[in-house]
Amino acid sequence: MTIQEQSLPVFASDGEVLRDRVASFAANQLFGGRPDLLHGPNPYRRTLVPEALAEVDFDRPLGAREFASSRALTVHRILGTYYESETVLLPEQGLAGLRPDFEAFYGEELRRIRESSLSDLERFAFGFLDGEVEVSGDCTPEVLDTYLRHLVDEAARGDSPALDAIATAADRPAAADTYLVQLALDGLTEASAMSRNLGGAYGPEQSALFKVFIDEFGYGVHESKHTTIFTKMLGSRGMASHVHAYWNFYLPGPIAINNHYYLLSRDHAKFFRYAGAVAYAEAVFAPAFVKMIKVFRDVFGDDVDLHYCDEHAHIDEHHGRITREEILLALAERHGNHVVPELMRGIAEARMLGGWFEDDTAAQITWSDTIPRHRELAADATLDGPPERAERTRGAAFHTRNHDHAVVLEIEDGEAELVTSATGTPTPLAKGDAVLVPAGRVYGVRALSDASSHLLHPVRTSA
Ligand SMILES: [Fe+2]
Ligand SMILES: [Fe+2]
Repeated sequence: MTIQEQSLPVFASDGEVLRDRVASFAANQLFGGRPDLLHGPNPYRRTLVPEALAEVDFDRPLGAREFASSRALTVHRILGTYYESETVLLPEQGLAGLRPDFEAFYGEELRRIRESSLSDLERFAFGFLDGEVEVSGDCTPEVLDTYLRHLVDEAARGDSPALDAIATAADRPAAADTYLVQLALDGLTEASAMSRNLGGAYGPEQSALFKVFIDEFGYGVHESKHTTIFTKMLGSRGMASHVHAYWNFYLPGPIAINNHYYLLSRDHAKFFRYAGAVAYAEAVFAPAFVKMIKVFRDVFGDDVDLHYCDEHAHIDEHHGRITREEILLALAERHGNHVVPELMRGIAEARMLGGWFEDDTAAQITWSDTIPRHRELAADATLDGPPERAERTRGAAFHTRNHDHAVVLEIEDGEAELVTSATGTPTPLAKGDAVLVPAGRVYGVRALSDASSHLLHPVRTSA
C-alpha cells in the first residue's frame, strides 16, 4: 500500500462564474455583519466579509498546504453556510421577529444560488483531496485494520499542539476559551452531517451507524443530547451557546474539518470515505477528550462543567469500536477489497484535517497570548512594498479576517482595538502603534474613536 500525491483536479465551471455566484450569495443582507464581536441569537445571520471575498482568486483551487490562508477562511465560511442551509436551524427563543430572516435564509433566491454553485465550491475547497491521497497496492480488510489501528495509536500517544498551547499560555482561561470556540461549530450542531448517511438501505452497517447517531442525540432525550451538554460546558464558562455566537472566531482549519464531514455525507459516491473518516474520528475522540479534561481541570479546577468531555471519553470508546468493527471492517468484508482504498482514504483525510484543527488552533492561541511580543516584532520587521489601507468607523459591522503573509498592522489615525480572541481582552491601539500579524492569524479591528484607519504593511520575513 502506498500513499502518494497526484495532480490537482479540474473545475467544472470557470472561476469567474463561481466568483459571481458566491459573491451574489454573500451580498445578501443576512451576511453583512453587526457591530458586536459575537453574533446574536439568530442562526441565519453570519458575517461573510465581502471585502475579503473580493480578493479571492477563484481560478486556482485551494491547495492542501494553505488551510490557514485568507482564501480558505473566506471560502469555508461560505461553504459552511451553504451546508447549514440544508439543516434545520431555529432559534431557541422562537421565530418571532426573525421570520423574514428565516424566509431569506431558506428562500428560493439563495437556494438557487447554492444549488448552482455548491458542487463547484466543493471542488474549489476540497478538490486537492483527490490528488493529495492515493491509496493503491494490497488493500485487504487486514491492511485496513492495521492502518486504522496504527493511526489511532499514533494520535492517542501523540501530543495535542492546541492543548499544549493552552497549558503554556500566560492567559490560560482565554486560551482555553479559544479551544472551546473551535469545538462549538460542530458541538452546537453535532452529528448533523452524520444524519445524511442514515437514509437508504445498506444493511447491518446502516443500523450500526444509527446506533452511534442516536447516542449523539441522547437517545431522544434532549437533556442528554451531545449538543445540549456542550451548551452547558459553554455556559459554565459564562460563554454564549447559541448558533453561531462565535462565528467571527472560528478558524479556517476547524471550519474545514466540519465542512469535510458535510462534503463526504452530501455526496454518497463518497460514502466509503465517510465511513473511513468517521471510524478514525470516533476512535481518536476518546483519548483526545481525556487529554482535554486534564488540561481544563488544571486551568479551571471545578469551575467548568466537563460532562461533555466525560461523556465522549466514555462513549467514544464504544463508538470507536462500533465504527471500526460494525461499519468500517464490515463494509470491507461485505463489499470487497475494491472499496478498501476509499475507506483508507477517508481515514487519511480525517487524520490530515484533524492536524489542521490542532495546528491552526495552537497558532491562534499562541499569537493571541503574545501580542506584546508581536508589538516588538513589528518594530523589528522589514517592510516590503506599499501598504494596504483600511478604515473603520465606530459602530460599523465587526468582522475578522486573516492574511496569507505576515503583515505589520499600524494605526494610521484615530484609536482602535485589536481583537484576536472571543473572550480575551482586546488590545487598545493609538495612532502609530503597530503589531505584527503572522500569516494565517485571524483578527478584527474595531474603532474606539469615531473613525480610525490602519495600514497593513507586507513583511519580508516569513514570521
Ligand atoms: Fe458526540
Ligand atoms: Fe461519538
